[in-house]
Amino acid sequence: MQFCLDKHGEWVVVSANDDDKEEDEEDAFFGAKNEQQVKKIAKTLADATTWLDMLNDTQRNIMFQRAVENCIGKTNSQKNELTVFDVGSGTGLLSLFAARAKTLSEKTFVKIYSCEMYLPIFLVGELVVRENRRVKKIPVTSSIHMFHKRSEDVDAIRKNELDILISELLDSALLGEGWLLVLRNIFERELLRKNHFSIVPNSAKIYLQLLDAGSSVLDAKDRRAGLYGEAITSDGFSRLDVQCHFDSLERRGKIKAISEHIEVFDIDFTSNNDWGRTKVVSCSSSTLRLDMSDHEINAVAMFWDVDLDGTGVHRLNTFPCAGGNNHGFRRHWRQIIAPLEYAISLSSIITTEKPIRIETRIADDYLALDAKVSCDEMIMKKKKEKWKETPMQAIKNPKPTHEEGKRWLCIALANISEFWFSRAPLGENLCGLDLTKANMLLCTKPVENISGCCYQSFKSDLLDELGHLSSTTEDEATMILWKSSVLFVTDDDENKKEEGNKKKFYIDVDAGRSITTNHVVFFFSDKSPGPDEWKRQRQVQVARMDRELTGQKFKIIASNFDAEEGECIRVLKY
Ligand SMILES: C[S@@+](CC[C@H](N)C(=O)[O-])C[C@H]1O[C@@H](n2cnc3c(N)ncnc32)[C@H](O)[C@@H]1O
Repeated sequence: MQFCLDKHGEWVVVSANDDDKEEDEEDAFFGAKNEQQVKKIAKTLADATTWLDMLNDTQRNIMFQRAVENCIGKTNSQKNELTVFDVGSGTGLLSLFAARAKTLSEKTFVKIYSCEMYLPIFLVGELVVRENRRVKKIPVTSSIHMFHKRSEDVDAIRKNELDILISELLDSALLGEGWLLVLRNIFERELLRKNHFSIVPNSAKIYLQLLDAGSSVLDAKDRRAGLYGEAITSDGFSRLDVQCHFDSLERRGKIKAISEHIEVFDIDFTSNNDWGRTKVVSCSSSTLRLDMSDHEINAVAMFWDVDLDGTGVHRLNTFPCAGGNNHGFRRHWRQIIAPLEYAISLSSIITTEKPIRIETRIADDYLALDAKVSCDEMIMKKKKEKWKETPMQAIKNPKPTHEEGKRWLCIALANISEFWFSRAPLGENLCGLDLTKANMLLCTKPVENISGCCYQSFKSDLLDELGHLSSTTEDEATMILWKSSVLFVTDDDENKKEEGNKKKFYIDVDAGRSITTNHVVFFFSDKSPGPDEWKRQRQVQVARMDRELTGQKFKIIASNFDAEEGECIRVLKY
């Protein structure tokens, strides 16, 4: 029997049999037997993760594919066999790239070990690999051995056996998914071939940008304490671990860039002696935007630039789009913004010509990045103690309660271009592979034969994504096109909550003008929502419609909220 944790921290049985491969279709993990559990896990993944966005990130996929091919193509094998280890294989994408890569000699066999620790995704990976083998997209000169294990627990690999290590454990903060911990373990166990190995990704450069951030950004970033730990360490370093959407904040004037991108740190993933150090960079007033002299430096943004195979050609980065980056909006890799312990007045820097000192380090205890920006003591202004006083509960999602026995559904039609494309289902030709089998877990199906419907919802941090909190009416006019609220649960329903959740709502929309909408945005309120209720919400649900609709009058049909099978919102055009 196999279990996995769902988003409520409950264990769910996902397979009654340890060997699914031999089971009939009916009994298999994705068969009828597990239908409810699969739906539940699918909803968790669709709501709370960025899997689809990541897998639809063509630039990411192509760069990894080329880097993996390049490493395999240039490696001289021992005994006509190349050994590759894919850590965190997910749907199996990188393993499949390795399996199809050309080797130096045609006689070389490619043996791939791949491991994935999250069981539902591991099972999807197995299915995807099996399907691609069936349709002959994998040559017979390679084998993929898949383990449902953490990399530390894979004991099938011998000492010095690995020619190539591949992995995509990079997050917005670069190291937040534990890439260095994985690497450290692999070095300690001496799994890599002595002096003849490649690692993808190979190295990274870290850039900081000095910012003047408005109080709404600093407050929001700092109120994360309960989730991520303190924003600033006891020795004054800012933790670079909270992601945001830089372009959106800059566009709305919530942050102002005071400097260019400053290269502050570099990491060589192929050498484990390289990590535990602090690097200091001095930054003179000439690198600052002097036209901003009435501003202060009170926050930093962090971006990374990764060289995947050490050639300098196959690179990926998290620079914002406004800085000339052409990868488009990414939800799975965004930018990091962190408040500083002290604010530094720019005019004082300009008049005294004192340099700014930027220290960046990988903290040894949790192997993640920290930065400290300081200057002459006289110039630095101590920040108000307000960070530490902020009540922890403020960051918690204001979960709708049923205290008064009533609950309102606040709902809006929106046009959000940035979310639109990246949530597409996976196709049959993702870098020449077939990933359609992953769709059943990663995206919920649109309702057939009904135009303008949407199933998939995911949580959004309103401040970063929609820019609604303290937003201008201009923002609102361009994104939220129509909004309203309906009484969702009444005293009456409370006694039979099940039914309340499964109730169907029909909401007539007259936008008053012709609008083009592609998302439904909603949240619940336990008090009668006033016009400002939207502005107070930090987290809303954002549901992608399966197509854009243009018109003035629509009908929204909403049902199944909170029910196990997942909510369903359809938008129909009159
Ligand atoms: C960002 S996803 C990448 C998936 C896939 N490699 C790709 O590029 O599409 C990272 C995956 O690694 C898994 N993972 C993270 N740390 C791991 C570890 N130490 N051992 C095995 N799996 C791990 C996570 O569960 C997640 O599914």
